Amino acid sequence: MIFRFDCCGVRHHRTRKTLTHDQILITSALPYVNGVEHLGNLVGSLLPADVHARFRRQTGCDMLFICATDEHGTPAELGAIEAGQDVRAFCDAQHAVQADIYRRFGLSFDHFGRTSSPYNHALTQHFYRRLDDAGLIEARTSQQVFSPADRRFLPDRYVLGTCPHCGDAGARGDQCDHCGTLLDPPDLIDPRSALSGDRALEIRDSRHLYLRQVELVDSIGAWIDSRTGWPPFVVSTAKGWLNAELRDRCITRDLAWGIAVPRDGFDGKVFYVWFDAPIGYIASTQEWADAAPGRDWRQWWWQADDVSYIQFLGKDNIPFHTVSFPATLIGSGEPWKTADVIKDSTG
Ligand code: 2FM
Ligand code: ZN
Repeated sequence: MIFRFDCCGVRHHRTRKTLTHDQILITSALPYVNGVEHLGNLVGSLLPADVHARFRRQTGCDMLFICATDEHGTPAELGAIEAGQDVRAFCDAQHAVQADIYRRFGLSFDHFGRTSSPYNHALTQHFYRRLDDAGLIEARTSQQVFSPADRRFLPDRYVLGTCPHCGDAGARGDQCDHCGTLLDPPDLIDPRSALSGDRALEIRDSRHLYLRQVELVDSIGAWIDSRTGWPPFVVSTAKGWLNAELRDRCITRDLAWGIAVPRDGFDGKVFYVWFDAPIGYIASTQEWADAAPGRDWRQWWWQADDVSYIQFLGKDNIPFHTVSFPATLIGSGEPWKTADVIKDSTG
């Protein structure tokens, strides 16, 4: 005979002789490697995730709590430049600093990995290949900001300027923190280079890969509708993003530091940090599994219907977790675990 009961919001099964708990996977948004001075992640995501993980463990759940440093993209490169260090050495040092801080805060991660790990490189390239095989990747010529003074393209945070939506003068090429709008560098008014301050910027053509998210609108919408118990703000942000703002997403950048793009003609380019970072949740679990015998990452991520997966994150991260990362997972056509519950810093 099987009895079902609910003591902590997830299903439990009591058989005559044994009590088995469903599995709970918790991830907290991956802090940028240069973000040691920012407490936002700690307060908005890491501590709530840790409190929840401790609660679940106390109720006897089979629990896995995963995090990592987010080590690619312009945040890491600019952090290294500011510190006067090679970016790899900067990431090595800052990962160690963050791991030590979180250890001293008593955060109870099962594993605190790095998105620069070989696991994440291999898995990100795997997802790219699956998406490409599914016809969801398209190479396009796009307009990028180029600085003659810096002699390079300036993606994302390499461009500073004024937000075209709210007029805030402190906007960056990827986002305006004042109004929360996601931006592209060419959108900025009165742009300048974050490296040299160069204002004589040009728009030049550059080949990039796009994930055809628009093809996935119906699948992602159905996926969101199939979730229950999401905070209303998360649902409204996800739906707003899906219905009004969704565009095919450029998943490559003109940068040297990051995960190489395994495609002819893309030497010297890397995947966009927001493509590889959430894949880091899975890659960090793979690294955890390989660190000791008897652990299996597939138990948590692959055909893992018995797992309840809760993501903790800041509100700025909602579109990436409700639309972009699910597009990667669903678009792959493989049976990856997707989030059951998303808890953001507002609720
Ligand atoms: O906003 C941030 O701090 C990002 N580093 C969060 C990444 S979450 C995940 F997708 F990797
Ligand atoms: Zn703005």
